[in-house]
Amino acid sequence: MIGFGGDYNPEQWLDDKNILEEDIRRFHEMGVNTVSVNIFSWSFLEPEEGKYDFTFLSSLLDRLYEEGISVNLATPSGARPKWLSDKYPEVLRVREDRRRMIFGERHNHCYTSPVYREKVRAINEKLSEAFGHHKAVIAWHISNEYGGECHCPLCQDAFHRWLEKRYESIDELNRRWNNAFWSHIYDSFDSIESPSSIGEGQNPALSLEWKRFVTHQTIDFMNEEIKAVRKYSDLPVTTNMMYNYTGLDYSRFADCLDFISWDNYPAWGTGFDGDDVLVAADNAMEHDYFRAMKNKPFILMESCPEATNWQPLSHLKRPGVMEAESLEAVAHGADGALFFQMRHGRGGFEKFHGALLDTSGRETRTIKEASELGKKLELLSDVKGSVNKPRIAIINDTQSRWAMEGAAGPRNKGLHYRDNLRRVYLGIRRCGFDVDVIDSDHDFSSYRMLVAPMLYMFRKGVMERMRNFASQGGVLVVTYWSGVVDDYDSIYPGRTPYGLSDLLGLCRAEIDALQDGVENSVEPVLGNTLGINRSYTSSILSEIPEVYDAEPILIYGNDFYKGIPAVTRKGSVYYIGSMMNEDFYSDFFSSVASAEGLEPIMKTLPRGVFVSERIKDGKSYIFMQNFSAHDVVIRSETFEGKIIIGEGNTIRPYGTIVIER
Ligand code: GAL
Repeated sequence: MIGFGGDYNPEQWLDDKNILEEDIRRFHEMGVNTVSVNIFSWSFLEPEEGKYDFTFLSSLLDRLYEEGISVNLATPSGARPKWLSDKYPEVLRVREDRRRMIFGERHNHCYTSPVYREKVRAINEKLSEAFGHHKAVIAWHISNEYGGECHCPLCQDAFHRWLEKRYESIDELNRRWNNAFWSHIYDSFDSIESPSSIGEGQNPALSLEWKRFVTHQTIDFMNEEIKAVRKYSDLPVTTNMMYNYTGLDYSRFADCLDFISWDNYPAWGTGFDGDDVLVAADNAMEHDYFRAMKNKPFILMESCPEATNWQPLSHLKRPGVMEAESLEAVAHGADGALFFQMRHGRGGFEKFHGALLDTSGRETRTIKEASELGKKLELLSDVKGSVNKPRIAIINDTQSRWAMEGAAGPRNKGLHYRDNLRRVYLGIRRCGFDVDVIDSDHDFSSYRMLVAPMLYMFRKGVMERMRNFASQGGVLVVTYWSGVVDDYDSIYPGRTPYGLSDLLGLCRAEIDALQDGVENSVEPVLGNTLGINRSYTSSILSEIPEVYDAEPILIYGNDFYKGIPAVTRKGSVYYIGSMMNEDFYSDFFSSVASAEGLEPIMKTLPRGVFVSERIKDGKSYIFMQNFSAHDVVIRSETFEGKIIIGEGNTIRPYGTIVIER
């Protein structure tokens, strides 16, 4: 069965025993089969240091088990009891301006503090011993949304030791970091301070290495948590990650986890100027990123059944949107579509946050829609365990993005990285292909096409692996602002994109930043081998290449670089020099796909229709979803196979069709 349910925090209504029974009745009505508990329960579990009381949790798990509801059991490290910070102030974070926080909120502990690690280890082991074999528990939900950083003396020291291990000598660090600039030579590892608004904020290599260290330290903390729960239990572990979160390099977490999970709160109807096709593409891209991390099914651990309470506008989910959002996760490889939260609390910061159940006890629209969704997920039971197997990958590399967005460079008012990525992604999706979104260290060998949009940093080995990919017959697409710097954010000497200029038949000469709203035109070259014959527009950043051995496909139409190629081809290696308008990408990728013999799941789709395919045991499950504002008629030959969800060949807005072949 596909997991359906969500975060459940009944410790908030312990004084009303009837609520649990009422909730269980509703869970059955909606078809809920999984809840995540214990996420923020530490003060109930250990009201005094070393005094554990698991009575409530134990009875809760027993009761859920009796009712056939499975549990993701969380470790409670995301919010600590007050006694802990009162007694051990070292667990409180120090901000980048070197001020120590006081008790409050959550997700704010020091990841280095030996005391915090010890207290977390102790409670995790106790939980593992008590519930690691409980029949209701199916997985460990490790902490909650790891994130943020701490600049305390303990973290500074750990940072120094981490740097020392990486560089061995301070001279090597000074060289790699280009510290001769502004006379910033360090004389010892211990003299280095983490980036700060009252100190060093303008050393790109320091900022980059600090971010790497924060990722390392968070994973180290998480691994200690995992080790503790593994003491008595071998249940699978996951941690819930966040949307487009760049505070950590999530790609480094994958190997430590048994399965990936993430939390999605899209702004339907209000995000991206209210264009829900872009919202859908953005979600899809993120699903494809998390799925590709392990090339296996993931869980959508949280989403909101109604409106959230923290977005600028609490825009209600229109009828059908909750279902479309959940099924979109499944279409892209999720084996669970869970929510935050099962029931509203009556007080606290999140009392107005959407939930499946509210405090009125009424048969709400949300309950009705959730019940319909529950039935559809039930129909999709066989899909569980199947995987999407895209032949196309787009690189979205967090470390490259850290460096690129941190560098004072061509467009400090916004590089539009995510926007560009989404345009590339949507263009490929509109051609009817499944896509993996990957880190640049991910294996390229299973793909036919590899797209590297704005891959500013080529870490060690990336260029060689790209060359290897191309030499094995892979189709390579590289865009502007790629292959500029190395692992330490130092510019590669020689022609760039680094190491690829012979393959591309060009190198970067200049890059022009355009004012917001200003566009250049891009014109097709008559008789080009891709058969492109429309004009497009380019904006934001326009690279001006020096082309010596590539076919110009499109050229810039205006400005002093009028006539210079904006898009080129050399064999199966392509170059895009600027951020183009959306239609360019679907035309370009559909021409490249036919030139290179790549077969889509379905040919050229109307804007807003998304198709994906999950495969298992020789069966294929084709998902078609319509995120446009209009009904869409799907060609009848597409319906070959058994229809699992959907009627007729028209998909209404936010509707879904699933076919088994
Ligand atoms: C998530 C978090 C949940 C809840 C939710 C509200 O980021 O993990 O605990 O706060 O946001 O949207």
